[in-house]
Amino acid sequence: MLNWDDPLAKFNEPAFKPEPTEHPPRAGDGLVTNEALMETAGSAPVVDPFPPVSETAAAIDNEVEVAETPVSYEVEATEADLSGTGLEDIEMGAERIQVDDKKIINCRADLNQLVPFKYEWAWQKYLDGCANHWMPQEINMAADLALWRDPTGLTEDERTIIKRNLGFFSTADSLVANNLVLAVYRHITNPECRQYLLRQAFEEALHTHAYQYCVESLGLDEGEIFNMYRELPAVARKTEWALPFTKHLADPNFHTGTAENDQKLLRELIAFYVIFEGIFFYVGFAQILSMGRRNKMTGVAEQFQYILRDESMHMNFGIDVINQIKIENPHLWTPSFQQQAVKMIRDAVELETQYARDTMPRGILGLNAPMFEEYLQFIANRRCSQIGLPEQYPGAGNPFPWMSEVLDLKKEKNFFETRVTEYQTGGALSWD
Ligand SMILES: [Fe+2]
Ligand SMILES: [Fe+2]
Repeated sequence: MLNWDDPLAKFNEPAFKPEPTEHPPRAGDGLVTNEALMETAGSAPVVDPFPPVSETAAAIDNEVEVAETPVSYEVEATEADLSGTGLEDIEMGAERIQVDDKKIINCRADLNQLVPFKYEWAWQKYLDGCANHWMPQEINMAADLALWRDPTGLTEDERTIIKRNLGFFSTADSLVANNLVLAVYRHITNPECRQYLLRQAFEEALHTHAYQYCVESLGLDEGEIFNMYRELPAVARKTEWALPFTKHLADPNFHTGTAENDQKLLRELIAFYVIFEGIFFYVGFAQILSMGRRNKMTGVAEQFQYILRDESMHMNFGIDVINQIKIENPHLWTPSFQQQAVKMIRDAVELETQYARDTMPRGILGLNAPMFEEYLQFIANRRCSQIGLPEQYPGAGNPFPWMSEVLDLKKEKNFFETRVTEYQTGGALSWD
């Protein structure tokens, strides 16, 4: 076990090797003090983590074979076309980057230079995301565990909603993260947008962590939850719908630069940002947050509240990217492309309405599937107008106006009044 009080010299010695941990990894390890760990170690044999240098050096010497030929680490230059990735060879003495050189796709300017900014909105979203930082372990899950263990605490239908939503989201957020880093990132050729994508990727990891933390806190069967998207059609359908879009982009042979492929990228961004994160998440969010409003499973609901706040920003970032691509490449936004996008959104409303029926066949807590159908139509209208498509469901109202309060980033207290949500880190604080 390393200790901050150990002399630095020990760490710099060539023979120094960290001692392997003697306990299996545990949730919350990072929050346990060294003293507490020493106590729990009990009567375990005491191992000197810093044996005399001469002994360890000799031991290491015996393990290393001396190479007979000179060791080379040179890597042959690749012939692959890496333009537009940020991994091209450095062009010494090239012209300095100007704002007008930057483009959101198919840009040939150096991607390793963050500034000068062209898309201030992308940088601002990166800053806002950092200012909203949170961690799943900060949320108290004790009341949830007590309610979950109480045989009369929740109805079977309420338990089904909790488990199915954890089942859907626990794998859905991993899919979104994989889509970001393996498919989307490569094709967005702007450094400030990539900076936000990196922040978003980390937030998706936090979301998967949050679902795992709920499963662990409630003592649920993790195999049942994490396999739901392969075992329950209601959970699997939405993922199955989204996968083909990302597979095109993740193909190493796929490159943007033709109208056909640029449209594939645009279609994929609509599929993931507008539909997957902007429609497919909303029945689950409304179901769980409505339980929290009735003082049930408030810890799980609070986790979902923070996730919804992040997701709302992800979606708005995606919509800004889509609209910027449209501005810079108007030839992609053809009538037939718009018809495809409308069809995708209408199909998504059908799928998500089916998810509402499957997760609450009898209705609970004053909610029922028809209310969700109208809510989804209301949301779909908003999504259409946000990317410049005609609204598809005239007159659809919002049966859950309280959902927009959850999204209000300016609120000083969180939705359930349990803790302050403004998580301002050092990087976001004023030094005045
Ligand atoms: Fe997420
Ligand atoms: Fe997201």
